[in-house]
Amino acid sequence: MALSIYTYGQKILRKKAQEVVKITPSLAKLADDMLETMYASAGIGLAAPQVGHSIRLIVVDVTSEEEPRKPYQMFNPKVVNKVGACTAEEGCLSVPGVWADVERPESITVEAMGKNGKPFALKDIDGLLARCIQHEIDHLDGVLFVDKISATDRTLNQGKLKKLSKGSKSVPS
Ligand code: CO
Repeated sequence: MALSIYTYGQKILRKKAQEVVKITPSLAKLADDMLETMYASAGIGLAAPQVGHSIRLIVVDVTSEEEPRKPYQMFNPKVVNKVGACTAEEGCLSVPGVWADVERPESITVEAMGKNGKPFALKDIDGLLARCIQHEIDHLDGVLFVDKISATDRTLNQGKLKKLSKGSKSVPS
């Protein structure tokens, strides 16, 4: 089932999300619905607060259309090691129409719990996968990529952001 995506200006995107203690069948279904929603929106990552659930769950799949899919569903994801720094352009399904450079650690190790309740780690990952996972974990802490863009890019996108937060006022969060 595809879910609706909350956009810039809605309060839930600014809340610190809660740890998941137990993966219930409904949380497992939420993780699947999030992947479906992400694919339907042509996104490469989605965090639970973006679909109205303030819990620590993210889904990611950075493969391109020609490749076999490689989805990750990560509960309580945590960066346990980070190395270097690199800059690349980012966007976000909750901030449609805005794209800007963000600097992040280049290589990371992430620990998480899988949908089966078992812990796993992605060691020394880099590139788009590392960037995407960091962007999604930021969502769990109420941080959006536009918080991390340059003053120039912020000024350039001010109008779009204002419009987005105005448009989202009437929607409950
Ligand atoms: Co995002």
